[in-house]
Amino acid sequence: MAYTVFARKYRPQTLDELVGQEHVARTLSNAIAADRVAHAFLFTGVRGVGKTTTARILAKALNCEKGPTATPCNECAICKDITAGVDMDVQEIDGASNNSVDDVRRLQESLPYRPARDRSKIVIVDEVHMLSTGAFNAFLKTLEEPPPHVKFIFATTESHKVPVTIRSRCQRYDFRLIPQTVVADHVRRVLGSEGITADDDAIALVARESAGSMRDALTLLDQLVAFGGDHLVGEDVARHLGIAGRAALHRALSAVLSGDAAAVLRAIDATLASGADPNHFVKQLVQTLRDLVVLRVAGMTACSSISSTRSARLRRRSRARRIRWSCSACSRSCRSSWTRSRRPARRV
Ligand SMILES: Nc1ncnc2c1ncn2[C@@H]1O[C@H](COP(=O)(O)OP(=O)(O)OP(=O)(O)O)[C@@H](O)[C@H]1O
Ligand SMILES: [Mg+2]
Ligand SMILES: [Zn+2]
Repeated sequence: MAYTVFARKYRPQTLDELVGQEHVARTLSNAIAADRVAHAFLFTGVRGVGKTTTARILAKALNCEKGPTATPCNECAICKDITAGVDMDVQEIDGASNNSVDDVRRLQESLPYRPARDRSKIVIVDEVHMLSTGAFNAFLKTLEEPPPHVKFIFATTESHKVPVTIRSRCQRYDFRLIPQTVVADHVRRVLGSEGITADDDAIALVARESAGSMRDALTLLDQLVAFGGDHLVGEDVARHLGIAGRAALHRALSAVLSGDAAAVLRAIDATLASGADPNHFVKQLVQTLRDLVVLRVAGMTACSSISSTRSARLRRRSRARRIRWSCSACSRSCRSSWTRSRRPARRV
């Protein structure tokens, strides 16, 4: 049988399975339960955080034979067809390649007719920001007052490119970047289902490299499993990705905290000799120093991005006297850049 990549194999099929987007899942569930479902939605957020997945789940929720329900059965013919992408009444359109006025007109001509089998006709337009200005304008009237059996779901990674006239006609849902710890838990679950073991460092690396995108995490995991087999080890994963392993990072960090310049240079030299990407190494070092300062100042509760196993080691380090010294030494420059910043909260 053909191999199915993790990102597809583990696509959530119900709102409950969607991780890190509880605000979206709860609002949609409540709207369905109260029979207050809007006729047009705009799903926005970065790549791989669940927009298309949620659009399909919503299509099932509205059309399931046992629905409308926030928990579609995934067993009836309609649910199965929507999952397989072959339902006649649920159209998934790629906005990038169907972006002309004619494409929108053709779509609109079919909308007044009743659905062939389902309760609603659902039009999912992915990458909607790629539509031309004319195509957006052609949508305006239908979007304002669509036939009662039609629902639109627009998905985009670049909501600012969607005209405000379209945005104001849609209920907007902002999909968030998924926190590292949440990605790590999901990755752990996927590995568990696959019977693959991995140490905490390996999982933390995957979660960090994914930068908040679940698809990126699962795609990376596929690649690592192909490389590392049934047991993933942090140092191997780091080497495979061309980034410095945790041990190298902590060697450099210890040298910095103990003020030993020669040891810092030796640690950097050894890291670069192992083939790690220097840009990435500096980023990791700065990120870890930032984590230490936050741990020191605000404690574990403020550090949702730090896993509990990593935190024990980091917490020990955060007690180092030098951190307090560097904090007070740089506080003046921090405060002035904070004041200069237009959006101070972003700088934390
Ligand atoms: N919130 C999530 N919970 C669990 N898995 C997720 C989530 N978001 C994404 N995934 C995983 O990533 C895959 C791709 O997700 P999806 O197609 O929904 O992303 P998207 O937001 O539409 O991305 P793009 O903007 O690139 O189209 C899913 O099949 C699933 O495996
Ligand atoms: Mg998508
Ligand atoms: Zn069903």
